[in-house]
Amino acid sequence: MSTAINDALFGWYPYLCLTVFLLGSLIRFDREQYTWKTGSSQLLRRRQLRWGSNLFHVGILAIFGGHFVGLLTPIWVFDALGISHSFKQGLAITVGGIAGIACFIGIALLAHRRLFDARIRNTSAPGDIAILLLLWLQLTLGLSTIFVSLGHMDGHEMVKFMNWAQGILTLQPAAAAYVADVNPIFKAHLLLGMTIFLVFPFTRLVHVWSAPIWYLGRPGYQVVRTRFAGRRVPTPMSPARSPASVRPAVARPTRQPAE
Ligand code: HEM
Repeated sequence: MSTAINDALFGWYPYLCLTVFLLGSLIRFDREQYTWKTGSSQLLRRRQLRWGSNLFHVGILAIFGGHFVGLLTPIWVFDALGISHSFKQGLAITVGGIAGIACFIGIALLAHRRLFDARIRNTSAPGDIAILLLLWLQLTLGLSTIFVSLGHMDGHEMVKFMNWAQGILTLQPAAAAYVADVNPIFKAHLLLGMTIFLVFPFTRLVHVWSAPIWYLGRPGYQVVRTRFAGRRVPTPMSPARSPASVRPAVARPTRQPAE
């Protein structure tokens, strides 16, 4: 790959992706509130969703956390903590690998129900299927990098990625040089990763911005009814809602005191 192409792909393309990601999300939030949702298919089919969704989300959140901390923590912090590059490389492979496999199984289940259940397939927007396949491809590329990384356990390649990511975020387009000579599998993984940021605002991924993490620090606000404990209390959304329970409350005639 020539230097000019490398600079364009790893020096400038990241800024295009980050700009569209941030501005696009803001504009969609502002203009298209009714489309700001996950577009859940749970009502159409519960089967495969619990395992698929849980494995996928746990896996991808762990990968996100690992990538965020692993790529964006300044190298001197690891050095100050006495964490060697080879230990960090091993950690990325082990934790990232386990999370990647969990995520892979989850996404396979999700893709299967979305593609092969006729009702879900028919109610899916092309973007719903495209983003699933894109994430699946990115995951496959990410897992493939492990076999390359096993060949340089001293962590020197990983340091290049850290320098690149931190260079981009500190506005140094010359950072592209750090990844000029890395294995093509890494390059493909970086490019597709940036592309996911690029298409993010146009997909159901926007729900990530609305993840209800605030509940974690807000105890006591949420009312939760278990399904089986005690008498079944009809709620407005419950299937147990009977015509009697939805009848508007009317004032009953009070018994007149006996004279
Ligand atoms: C812009 C976005 C992304 C960047 C820059 C990025 C970068 C990287 C890098 C540099 C590695 C190699 C780490 C090492 O061994 O030294 C890696 C590994 C990996 N990536 Fe990504 N990645 C991105 C997005 C994603 C996404 C969206 C997924 C999941 C769908 C993913 C899944 C993985 C997996 C499973 C591995 C292997 C395990 C690991 O080393 O953590 N990556 N990624």
